[in-house]
Amino acid sequence: MSTAETDAQIINADMPDVPPQAPSKINLKDYKKPSFDVETVDLNIKLFEEFAQVDSTLKMVRQTAGDIVLFGEALELISISVNGEILTAEHYQQDDDKLTISNAPDEVVLEIQVRICPQTNTALEGLYMAGSGDDTMFVTQCEPEGFRKITFYPDRPDVLAIFTTRLEADKRYPTLLANGNLVEFGELVNAPDRHYAIWHDPTNKPSYLFACVVADLDVLTDSYTTSEGRDVKLEVYAKSADIDKCDVGMQALKDAMEWDEVNYGRPYDLDRYMIVAVSQFNMGAMENKGLNIFNTACVLSSPETTTDSRSFSVKAIIAHEYFHNWTGNRITCRDWFQLCLKEGFTVYRDQSFSADQQSRAVQRIDDVATLRAHQFAEDAGPLAHPVRPESFVEINNFYTTTVYEKGAEIVRMIANTLGPDDFRKGTDEYFRRYDGQAVTVEDFLSALSITDSKIENFIDWYRQPGTPVVSGHQSYDRAAQTLTITLSQQTRHVSGFSAPKPLPIPVATALFDQDSGDIIAERMLLLDQATQSFTFENVSSEPVVSLLRDFSAPVQLNYDYQDEDLAFLLKHETNGFNRWQVTQMLVNRILLQGQGSKSSPQVYLSALAQTLPELAAEDAMLAARLLDIPSAQELASAIHKDYDPALVKAQREGLYQLVADTLKDQWAVLYKQLPMQSYKDSPEARGTRALRNVVLDMALTAKIEDAAVWAQQQYDNASCMTERFGALKVMVNHQVASADAYLADFYERFNSNDLVIDLWFSVQASADTVTADTIESLIAHTDFDWNTPNRVRSVISAFTSQPTALWTAEGLSLYTGVIKKLDDANPVLASRLLQVLARWNTLAESHRQMAHDQLLELQKQVSSKHVLESLNSVLGA
Ligand code: ARG
Ligand code: ZN
Repeated sequence: MSTAETDAQIINADMPDVPPQAPSKINLKDYKKPSFDVETVDLNIKLFEEFAQVDSTLKMVRQTAGDIVLFGEALELISISVNGEILTAEHYQQDDDKLTISNAPDEVVLEIQVRICPQTNTALEGLYMAGSGDDTMFVTQCEPEGFRKITFYPDRPDVLAIFTTRLEADKRYPTLLANGNLVEFGELVNAPDRHYAIWHDPTNKPSYLFACVVADLDVLTDSYTTSEGRDVKLEVYAKSADIDKCDVGMQALKDAMEWDEVNYGRPYDLDRYMIVAVSQFNMGAMENKGLNIFNTACVLSSPETTTDSRSFSVKAIIAHEYFHNWTGNRITCRDWFQLCLKEGFTVYRDQSFSADQQSRAVQRIDDVATLRAHQFAEDAGPLAHPVRPESFVEINNFYTTTVYEKGAEIVRMIANTLGPDDFRKGTDEYFRRYDGQAVTVEDFLSALSITDSKIENFIDWYRQPGTPVVSGHQSYDRAAQTLTITLSQQTRHVSGFSAPKPLPIPVATALFDQDSGDIIAERMLLLDQATQSFTFENVSSEPVVSLLRDFSAPVQLNYDYQDEDLAFLLKHETNGFNRWQVTQMLVNRILLQGQGSKSSPQVYLSALAQTLPELAAEDAMLAARLLDIPSAQELASAIHKDYDPALVKAQREGLYQLVADTLKDQWAVLYKQLPMQSYKDSPEARGTRALRNVVLDMALTAKIEDAAVWAQQQYDNASCMTERFGALKVMVNHQVASADAYLADFYERFNSNDLVIDLWFSVQASADTVTADTIESLIAHTDFDWNTPNRVRSVISAFTSQPTALWTAEGLSLYTGVIKKLDDANPVLASRLLQVLARWNTLAESHRQMAHDQLLELQKQVSSKHVLESLNSVLGA
């Protein structure tokens, strides 16, 4: 018998005799207040070569009857004492993830010593070492439940405390950072190669907002003076090779600080705001109080290495994390079911910020495109859940597009229903009432409804899963001069939830005069019944109706438009978003023929041909978007049965080809009208670059003879990554003869920059011609690294953009093999990758059986509760 087995038996001897259980579910309805509050926490974190020691002192005060419950995972407990008395094992109960102390006095000073091992923490939660060899650093990720991997603690968001953190490490890590203000920095008297820093955070915060960094980093500094006169030191920390790529982020931070003062009246509250760039990170970024930690991909930006769209998301994510300081940190969540309280509102805030930085229409187009591609798909499949879920096994599985993006759409509907003044009154009231507290979605709605009690009805949007489908038609009464629009709503019944109720759906509507193309009436219709009619008076001739303008609600719209009405709106709609929306409706009608639609492409093609030349000159960015054809995955999400990836790909490519061929004469003209110029970061310059890349792709699709040469020249003479990568991508996708040589050149030029090499991997992994073999060979490349989520995603997530390759026996076996491999090492990442397979069950029968078999096989091979919970949902268990 091995020692491990003996140990297991000894441990089991003390355990009650129950069979191993499925991971337990946590339910919203079981919420109970904690019995103890924590007033202060003193942490002393000492990092050594092979482990870290964490000493903590917690001052706790009883709130209600009950035990002290401390969560802890993967901790080696060295000692624990209560009010100076060392506890021995009979004084407390310890199981896998908790330590419980019963019969504690009402005021308690707890002292705890544990050892942890950041060096082997590949899950990237808690305190972990990033990097390798001589190039390492220590960072934390505590949201949602990572703090319990640092020490025993009442690790739940409704326990708020004042933290003081001492960090001690070898001097080869000169950068020692934690939340709040630096109080002391010095050397150890008895160990001359070690030093320490002490940080104090004066704000009460939950443990998920704790952070520390121990590293060797350069810093870019700046400052910002708030409207209250506070001088804030701004610092962006990165590796010395990356410090020249921090200006964009710094500027975005200053813009965000000002924006939040102007738009929400929220100034910053500490003397220092730090951002740290880390290359190994599971998510985009984290809003730890005063010490944000960012995935390098979400903070570094320079024209030579970062595409325009990536650079835009850097600014948005910087703003997002900054906005959390009020919506998330000062007002936090009572429990993790309320995640959307901070995320939905904060996404809404960052989207509004971004809309003020660029064309509002394009911002809305991009946000809606993301919502439709990912959130609608999630809502249509087995992972559908309410924006505020009612139960979970592993909360990490609920950092979803439903919680974030649909959550943001709900706040947007409320804001639009109230109008800017009343919305501001509502948010002011929210901050006034709840500052410093951990609250719920109901609290949020009650503050927002001070000027209009109907706002409380939006609660059902948080409770009910599924995307509502709004259908409708119109009837015009010439004699009465009235137009009546009848709308009805229907939401699919998601199993496990009660029958869907009608939701309040704001439908922004305008009537256009057929002859002049002018707007004759504009109204926000509030559809809050199953079916409702809305009548417009004094309408002298039958108008064209434009509905759901600016995507006023996250619904699927099925209106009985004629194709000609849509073409009319493409021409006359005043808002760029609405013009894009009608092109998407036309495209969907053409592509989803089998799904009951029956449009021919002619109307779409001639409308595009008429619109494009003028629009290209006026607003190149919008022109580029109007040529969008939804991705294969997005189209698949609208197919509920007998999904055939090859057929969807063929239809999609067929339409793309038709557009390219029909407008063939325009591409050469347009490409010449969009000359390459020295780099500028203006909306016009970005628009030109975006459209030029689309035109290049169209020109190659239309087999214009010179197009391959245009691509090579664009690559060779590129002034920035948007141009260079755009050219590389079309060369790879169209298998231009020189594509391999250009891929090699790209690698040579940028092989010292991980983020650019991620692009190099992803362009190959998402190529039209990709197969499982391509992916195997990319994984075998020396630069592939299982420990860096960005790198894994650059290959594995990129692969999912080609469903014909993914949904084959080889593709799927490779993909599930990756999940199995990551299940233990990094379950957060593994589970997220798995969620992409949710739609297996809509595949045509032959594929469906194969996918089902592979998922069942995977189920036998994984053990993390993250992956098991997702897999059970995906399998419909
Ligand atoms: N609160 C962070 C954000 O909104 C996300 C952190 C999620 N981390 C995680 N491991 N689930 O940007
Ligand atoms: Zn967030």
